Amino acid sequence: MTDRLYSQAAMTRVTVASLLLAVLIGGCGQDVRLGRAQKKALTDDERMAWWRDARFGMFVHWGLYAVPAGTYKGKRIDGIGEWIMNSAPIPIEEYEKFADAFNPIGFNADEWVRLAKNAGMKYIVITSKHHDGFCLWDSKVTEWDIVDATPFGRDILAELAAACKRHKIKLCFYHSIMDWHHPDAQAPFYPNYNDTNRSNPNFDRYVEQYMKPQLAELLANYGPLGVMWFDGEWIKDWTEPKGKELYAWLRELQPDLIINNRVGKGRKGMEGLSAGDDYAGDFGTPEQQVPATGLPGVDWETCMTMNDTWGYKAYDENWKSSEDLIRHLVDIASKGGNFLLNVGPTPEGLIPAASVARLEAMGRWMAVNGESIYGTTASPIGRPSWGRCTAQGNRLYLHVFDWPTDGRLSLSLPGAGAVQAHLLADRRKARLPVAIHGDTIVVSVPSEAPDAVASVVVLTGNNQ
Ligand code: GLC
Repeated sequence: MTDRLYSQAAMTRVTVASLLLAVLIGGCGQDVRLGRAQKKALTDDERMAWWRDARFGMFVHWGLYAVPAGTYKGKRIDGIGEWIMNSAPIPIEEYEKFADAFNPIGFNADEWVRLAKNAGMKYIVITSKHHDGFCLWDSKVTEWDIVDATPFGRDILAELAAACKRHKIKLCFYHSIMDWHHPDAQAPFYPNYNDTNRSNPNFDRYVEQYMKPQLAELLANYGPLGVMWFDGEWIKDWTEPKGKELYAWLRELQPDLIINNRVGKGRKGMEGLSAGDDYAGDFGTPEQQVPATGLPGVDWETCMTMNDTWGYKAYDENWKSSEDLIRHLVDIASKGGNFLLNVGPTPEGLIPAASVARLEAMGRWMAVNGESIYGTTASPIGRPSWGRCTAQGNRLYLHVFDWPTDGRLSLSLPGAGAVQAHLLADRRKARLPVAIHGDTIVVSVPSEAPDAVASVVVLTGNNQ
């Protein structure tokens, strides 16, 4: 799949010297989406452009599992919250009772979208349907959904779609291929809904008469969507040809749609795709991990939780610090990937306060330093000892985690030629002294780090 090769791969191959001399390549990292009226098919690079620029998105795992919130019949159930139906395990008739209790009157789509936007996120991926099969929209092909089965009765996806449109955030849907509630899928597998050795003879009927009609609803009524983010593809009945067929079918409904690798069987290595692979999907999905040197030649997105669960668990307080999360974002961007950071709202429809605090901290950092993340490509100088690096046009963004105590920030940049430096946090862009000793550049920096978590020094080539 050469068309999946991304200019970023080429970028990492060019020498540092030519990178610094290069003028901003038109179209690279820019949104070159064509107007609707032109009806011209986008190339893969054009289709992926907004996503590559975005770098940072919000994952939302929300559904009935927020009601038990990790506890069933007084017992704390191990594992991730949204798996409680399988982990407890809970028979379908019992699990269905959670729908009666799901009345998230605190849900406010504008607040969620504003929170994501203020954090610097450009897209939201929400669970339209997770493994428990429960749908967050008013599906016409089932009553196992938010409108027909709960006292709440509001179409969550519709409200979110409207809010995303208002705030210019791309709306994207997570969708589970595995379905523990549908009789033609994994429902009969209780007490192990996730039995990967079992097949359902009626599975094709589930795909044709249930899953595809549902996907058609999602694409017709809430679009245009940014991404369809599949999961649960590891079941025995799902195959790569089915994934390819589904991929093509979705692109016919929405030609600009971006689709993750879990639409087919292409989870390999670090859950990514490799350049030249013939698996369905546009990008790899490393989960809870950041590939040490990125996934060269392919697009990828790390998804991660802030604590240890995707779906809300009332007693999971194992939160990553804001500092860790900001550095993950920088680390991922420096390797050419996107960061999809999860929140698990409560049964009342609220994003937990600990998540809000972290998103606000990330937003404060992004408000100053966003330029060093959006639209950038992977570091052409690897991983320097003091932090990370991103690149755009003739600029390198040096993300300093460990601020030098001697006021000298050095990096190896063979053949760099003349460069200028300033602190990204400095609106006046006051020049920092730069000395070149052979292949080494030394930037003289103030003794105090502008940011305790990651301070950005901008290095600009002389050709602009
Ligand atoms: C895993 C889990 C699922 C979660 C997903 C997020 O595949 O099964 O619960 O939604 O990871 O990437």
